[in-house]
Amino acid sequence: MQADMSSPYGHIDNGLLAVKQGKIAWLGHQQDAPKFNTTQTIDGQGGWLTPGLIDCHTHLVYGGNRAEEFEWHCQGQSYQQIAQQGGGILSTVAATRNATEAELLSSAQARLQKLLTEGVTTVEIKSGYGLDLETELRLLRVAKNLQTKLPVTIKTTFLGAHALPPEYQGQANQYIDYVCQQVLPVVAQQKLADAVDVFCETIGFNISQTKKVFTAAQRLGLNVKGHVEQLSYMGGAWLVADFHGLSVDHLEYLPEQDLAYLKQQKTVAVLLPAAFYFLQEKQKPPITAMRKIGLLMAVATDLNPGSAPMASLLLAMNQSCILFGLTPAEALTGVTRNAARALGISRDKGQLQVGYDADMVLWPIDHPAELSYGVNLVSPQQIWVRGRCTKQPI
Ligand code: NIG
Ligand code: FE
Repeated sequence: MQADMSSPYGHIDNGLLAVKQGKIAWLGHQQDAPKFNTTQTIDGQGGWLTPGLIDCHTHLVYGGNRAEEFEWHCQGQSYQQIAQQGGGILSTVAATRNATEAELLSSAQARLQKLLTEGVTTVEIKSGYGLDLETELRLLRVAKNLQTKLPVTIKTTFLGAHALPPEYQGQANQYIDYVCQQVLPVVAQQKLADAVDVFCETIGFNISQTKKVFTAAQRLGLNVKGHVEQLSYMGGAWLVADFHGLSVDHLEYLPEQDLAYLKQQKTVAVLLPAAFYFLQEKQKPPITAMRKIGLLMAVATDLNPGSAPMASLLLAMNQSCILFGLTPAEALTGVTRNAARALGISRDKGQLQVGYDADMVLWPIDHPAELSYGVNLVSPQQIWVRGRCTKQPI
């Protein structure tokens, strides 16, 4: 059998992969493999080995839930209407401020565990349900702590500019100054965040406020990314690209003429079909144009209590195909190689290559399209994180 590089998966039939000290030390065809001094040999039994999946956009640390607002939503109220009535993000902020660090840790751990069961080995987690110094720090500490509880790599993102907290109603500019001058410097000093995000939207923050946060972040040496063009076109994606940001996320209202600039600035387009699905949006991201121009597309869950109460990256892959028209190969690239790019960790994760972290999943499947094709039909046979087996075959 030949390595089929014409396949969009770039896969190797009858492959062999060797791991040493948590890194991929060799991979290729079995017949070309040198003699290894192995301590353990595992037979993949005809399954497919993929990189560990990467969920590059979640908000999985929060208090409470929003099931009651789901009732309102199902009676016809829009996400914006619910937000304007003090529901939405602000109701989660109230529940989160009331939750102890231990409570937040245990509810987040349960949600994270569900992602890991599906072969996720790296997760990005945002703050943004505290909106004051103390609670934002608590959320980021909890997010970081999760990797001491479960076998996963966590990247944290500070999303202080997620919504206007009640104590700053009518004073958005003052709140942005507070975020930039009093919260961000402490977050950076305590090394609690790898990047900084802003919800740039009519119900979030405008372009000049977003720019202030990005400027402050960059001064502190932090990468930026944005929730942009989700419900309307604000020009946030262009701004993120201007700052050489890691990723622009959502993008339903992104106009095609902005794509070339995103590509030029090497900003990754993160697609979040679960939010599109739960909010019953109609406008889709310009996928055909993105593909044509060669913009890198990642796929993530957006796991959060409001717009995406969904702890399944495999389902997000399915939704990206069904709702947005990605191919199953693009969906898999979107949760591996391109997701790693979106997190700035593409030298270590997201690919099966020599020198990369041995984060890997063995799937009992005949073809990788099966990962996107069904809902809850496939689960990993075995999972390794940095070479350590975290799920044994049953
Ligand atoms: O990514 N858009 C803003 N933030 C989240 C929703 C958060 C919430 O509703 O609690 C999102 O969709
Ligand atoms: Fe989000």
